[in-house]
Amino acid sequence: MKQSEIAIRKSANRRSFLKNSLAASAATVGVGLLSNGLPAFGADHDRDREISEGDAAILRFLAAAEILETDLWVQYTELAGQDAPDSGYKTGLIQLDGDMPQYISDNTDDELSHELFINAYLKSKGAKPVDLEQFRTLEGSQVTDIPNVASKKRLTNLTELTVDTSWWVRYRSDNKNPDLGDTFPNAIPTLAAGKFTAIPRNNAELEIGNTIVPVDTHVQAIANTAGFHFAFIEQGGTSLYASLAQRVSNVEVLRIVLSIGGTEIMHFQTWQDKAGNAIPLTDGALVFPDLTADIPQPETLQSNLIMPEPTVFLSKKFPPCSIIRPTATKGVAMGAVKALTADGLFIGQTPDFFEFLRDLAEEADEARREI
Ligand SMILES: [Fe+2]
Ligand SMILES: [Fe+2]
Repeated sequence: MKQSEIAIRKSANRRSFLKNSLAASAATVGVGLLSNGLPAFGADHDRDREISEGDAAILRFLAAAEILETDLWVQYTELAGQDAPDSGYKTGLIQLDGDMPQYISDNTDDELSHELFINAYLKSKGAKPVDLEQFRTLEGSQVTDIPNVASKKRLTNLTELTVDTSWWVRYRSDNKNPDLGDTFPNAIPTLAAGKFTAIPRNNAELEIGNTIVPVDTHVQAIANTAGFHFAFIEQGGTSLYASLAQRVSNVEVLRIVLSIGGTEIMHFQTWQDKAGNAIPLTDGALVFPDLTADIPQPETLQSNLIMPEPTVFLSKKFPPCSIIRPTATKGVAMGAVKALTADGLFIGQTPDFFEFLRDLAEEADEARREI
């Protein structure tokens, strides 16, 4: 390259740097003003300590998602976590893995830590944290054999779930990718078709003190439903973080999104391994096939294929790649709201709740990477 060309390129870079800096300044002022009415550019101004409106919007949507995750995981923990009393429901979950109560408690701790961290980080940047307490209106489980469960109000509904199980097949496919428009059948079609509870709604479904296996078929069906719901939730988080990371501008915010997103992946991987151990049964309309059976079992259903099968990524011109899927970023926050709504998680929630959540999703989806 000739010297003159280098000079021209340098000046072009300089111009775009200035332009981007001004755009970033404009975007950060608004966030700075949210906290205390003072402009963001004070005497101790430090660009590294500020985040753009887009980054704040992404973190706010993720904070809301984490609050909702915490709420549902708390319900599972109260009924089957490490400190929950023995019951047929807990025993049913232990059929999927002896460590299920520990995993349930720990997943709950993780979600709470995500929620508290993201909100604290937003506040540290002068951005508004997310609070959903006004929407805590739903009745949860009405069991009275475990104290203090029935009286609590919830944000999420775990008693009328329609659990999508297509992620099971999606991660086992070697030639399809949802980002390229491919769709996948459900591994447990009946679970994705009706409305089922993933928690005991009453003492009869809880069976307090029961550790004898096999547990009642209906109670085991509830535990199986929970087992698949755990993985459904966490595969959603896995894709959500990977997708939104592509819209983040600030490197520290990117670090947060990648680091928290990584734990969602760890959760998903654990849960999909356990879901494969769901006890085969028929409970009314709900049928759990034996996914551990050797034959005849297509690879897209086989329970021990828990590592992501290499598949087409970005374009068919590249070799197959083992990846998280989907990771397309367009409209992903609103997509997450739709998926959780279709799951039945918000049945009984108010129109205000949906409006609040949709606004957060819209703002997150409008975020653009500023470089
Ligand atoms: Fe989380
Ligand atoms: Fe999660």
